Amino acid sequence: MLSHLLDREGVESVVLEKHSRDYVVHRVRAGVLEAGTVATLTAAGVGDRLAREGLVHRGIGIRFDGRDHRIDLAELTGKAITIYGQQEVVKDLIEARLARGAAVHFDVPDVRLDAPSGSRPRLEGTVSGRPLVVECDFVVGCDGFHGISRDHLPPTAWHAYHHEYPFAWLGILVQAPPSAAEVIYANHERGFALHSMRSPAITRLYLQCDRGDSLDAWPDERIWSELHTRLASAGWRLTEGPIIERGIAPLRSFVAEPMQHGSLFLAGDAAHIVPPTGAKGLNLAIADVAALAGSLAEWYRHRSRSGLDDYSPAALRRVWRAQAFSYQLTSLLHRFPDHDQYDRRRQLAELQYLTRSRAAATALAENYVGAAP
Ligand code: DHB
Repeated sequence: MLSHLLDREGVESVVLEKHSRDYVVHRVRAGVLEAGTVATLTAAGVGDRLAREGLVHRGIGIRFDGRDHRIDLAELTGKAITIYGQQEVVKDLIEARLARGAAVHFDVPDVRLDAPSGSRPRLEGTVSGRPLVVECDFVVGCDGFHGISRDHLPPTAWHAYHHEYPFAWLGILVQAPPSAAEVIYANHERGFALHSMRSPAITRLYLQCDRGDSLDAWPDERIWSELHTRLASAGWRLTEGPIIERGIAPLRSFVAEPMQHGSLFLAGDAAHIVPPTGAKGLNLAIADVAALAGSLAEWYRHRSRSGLDDYSPAALRRVWRAQAFSYQLTSLLHRFPDHDQYDRRRQLAELQYLTRSRAAATALAENYVGAAP
């Protein structure tokens, strides 16, 4: 996305990706796009398929105590969300980049940064069996939580903030029509469950599981049994189907601060991780690179560093807001191993407040759609 936005500003870039094109377009991630993210993609000319295939949702469901409640996002905030898989966004962006003949290199196993925060950083790696050296003005680490760029910030120049959660999510893709028209977040005493979708024919489901669980612990029968129990609601039935993809991901929160040193900038998961509850990860990453593209364009046009200097503080304000929201929604919906009956009743009181108070529902809705000030 950053490479695409820079191209539109007349700024040249080179993208080095460790994985294959096939791997990145098939890796299933979340699928909720905020209205602002949709607007950014559309304005950048990469929103055509999104407009055709994305599912616009004006509300979300919250299920607890076997009952259904709806948060009317559109009525409370004037904004909707769009369901469109993250890997579909990635697919569209790769096509747009390659159609422009951009330097996007896949399968680069050995990317190295040399003096990345200095005035003349260098990138090196092996592209199609040949060494490639890129001398550049800036390096932007968009290489995820496990990437190499963050470690090139001088140790004394940044701080890492971490939080781990005592559980993980098991996610599955199912070849069956979704069982509800909207996303449903379920709080159940056996643990959290989530009903979502990718298309009118594909359902996406998640279950809270133990942090150390492997897929072996979750045969199909156990997955379906837990989903039926945790998502149960009067008069509602979850449609089963063949499970076509499955994975387990631990939940964590992480922020690197600041997100920049000299000529090295961090964006997306390289700088911050949120737990998946609320699906903020991709939206934060798009907001990061949209801001960075504007600041870099300003630097090339006017040699002004003011936008670049403001990148990290402005991004971190947005990131910490999303940290607080994702943490809060995770705490509200999951079963914690150390919770006793008191904690359980407190959690239910919090959920009931959400269904009775327009103020509480609005607070959730404006964070969910990405409209929180
Ligand atoms: C999805 C993922 C989420 O983390 C979420 O909060 C809502 C939906 C999804 O993959 O569809």
